[in-house]
Amino acid sequence: MPQEPLQHRCSFCKRVITVHDQYDMPIYDPSTGFAICKSCVREINHFLDEHDQANAQAGHHDFSERLGELLAKNKPHKIKEYLDEYIINQDHAKKILSVAVYNHYKRMKYGFEHEGDADIEKSNVIMLGPSGCGKTALLSHLSHLLDIPFAVTDASSLTEAGFVGADVEVAVRNLYYAADKDIEKAEHGIIYLDEFDKIARKSGANNSITADPGHEGVQQSLLKMLEGSVVEFTSRGQRKHPEAPTIKVDTKNILFIVGGAFVGIDEVVEKRLHKGGTIGFGAEVQGEEEKPDFDELISQVRPEDLMEYGIIPEIIGRLPVICTLETLDEDALLRILTEPKNAPVKQYEKLLAMDGVTLTFEEDALRAVAKKAIERKTGARSLKGIIEDVMLDIMFDIPRSDAPRKVTITEACINEGASPKIEPLEGTE
Ligand SMILES: Nc1ncnc2c1ncn2[C@@H]1O[C@H](COP(=O)(O)OP(=O)(O)O)[C@@H](O)[C@H]1O
Ligand SMILES: [Mg+2]
Repeated sequence: MPQEPLQHRCSFCKRVITVHDQYDMPIYDPSTGFAICKSCVREINHFLDEHDQANAQAGHHDFSERLGELLAKNKPHKIKEYLDEYIINQDHAKKILSVAVYNHYKRMKYGFEHEGDADIEKSNVIMLGPSGCGKTALLSHLSHLLDIPFAVTDASSLTEAGFVGADVEVAVRNLYYAADKDIEKAEHGIIYLDEFDKIARKSGANNSITADPGHEGVQQSLLKMLEGSVVEFTSRGQRKHPEAPTIKVDTKNILFIVGGAFVGIDEVVEKRLHKGGTIGFGAEVQGEEEKPDFDELISQVRPEDLMEYGIIPEIIGRLPVICTLETLDEDALLRILTEPKNAPVKQYEKLLAMDGVTLTFEEDALRAVAKKAIERKTGARSLKGIIEDVMLDIMFDIPRSDAPRKVTITEACINEGASPKIEPLEGTE
C-alpha cells in the first residue's frame, strides 16, 4: 500500500505509530483516519480474554448443576444408538467410546461433589484400526453429540517446541476454543489426537515409516499433557512473545482419546506370538487369507506391541483402554453406501431431487462400488470418490433441462464407464 502515510496516530492511546513495513501495519481505515496500534489491540485482546474467563466462572455453577441431567442424557446405550445412525459395524469401538464418555461425565460429577476427595482415575483410550474403517468419523460424530467441549487435533502436525509446526499445546488450545474460551469447561473436555501412530519413534519394527527422532520430543511433551499439567498458550493467531497474554488450562481432568492406523502393528503382534516358534500364523488354513488374519492380529495388540512400534512406555501407561476396530468387508461397505443418515447414496438422491430427478442405484451397481473400494484397500474412504466419478457427467448434464426424469445407475456404469439410464419420469410406472 504505497500511498498510505508511514505514520498514523493511534485513536486510543494517541501514540504515533510508525510503520516500518507491511507486517507492522496497525489497523487503519483511510476513509475515517481511524487507527489502532498493536499494543492497544493486544490490550483489547487481553481484556476480552479476561472477560470471557469471568463469564466462564459465572457459568461454572450452572454446569455442575446440569451434570445430573447430562448423565441421564448420555447413558452408554444412548450414545451408541446415536453413533449407530452414522457408523456401520464397529460395535466394540462404539461400546468402548460410549462407556468412556459416560464415565467421563461421572468422574466430573464426582469431582464437583467431592472436592478434595481422591479422584476417580480417568481411562484414556487408544484406538487402532485400518485406514478408512471409521476412526475419525466415529470421533467426529461423537463430538457433535456431546455437551462438553471436544476437539480433534491431528497429531502428525505436532512438532517439538522450537521446531517449525504446531506445538503440542495446540491440542489444548483447540479444546479451549471448542469450549468457547471457557477454561473451566475446557478443563473437563475431551481431546482426540488423530493420526497418533505418526508420532511413533523410529524403531526396529517401524522403520519402514520415515519417522524422525524429533517424534520422541513430541511424545515427551504429550506425556506431560496426559499426566496432567498446566498448559500455557497464547490466543489464536498471536505469536508467542513475552508480553502476549497467555491462557492456562489444567489437563488433569481432560479425557484423551488417541487413534491411528498403526500400519505394520499386525506384524509386531505376529512376531511376538511366534517368538521362537516356527508355525506361522498365516499358515493356518483359512479360505479368506489376509483380512481375518489382520483383524485377528490387531485385536490382540498389547502394550508391549505399541512400545515395539515406537510409542514410549510412559505414554502407553497413560492409555489403559486399547480399542481395535475391524476391517470393513464388502457387505459393510454396501451398507455404508446406503444406510447411515448421511450415506453417499442418500446425499446424491437429495442433490438430484433438486433438479427434479429421481435417482436410483441398482443393487449390482452398489456392490460393484463396494468391490472396487475393497481393491483399493482404503476401507470406506474411496467409496465417495468412486461414486463421484460416475456421477460427474450426470450432475453436469442433468441441469440442462428442467424435465422430470428418472436416472438409474447400473453395474455397467461403475465397471465399464457406461452412461446411466435416463428416462422421462412420466414414462415410468
Ligand atoms: N464404519 C463406518 N460406517 C460409516 N461410514 C464409514 C465407516 N468407516 C468409514 N466411513 C466413512 O469413510 C470415510 C473415511 O473414514 P475415516 O473415519 O476417515 O477413516 P479412518 O479410520 O481412516 O479415520 C468417512 O467419510 C466415513 O464417513
Ligand atoms: Mg482417520
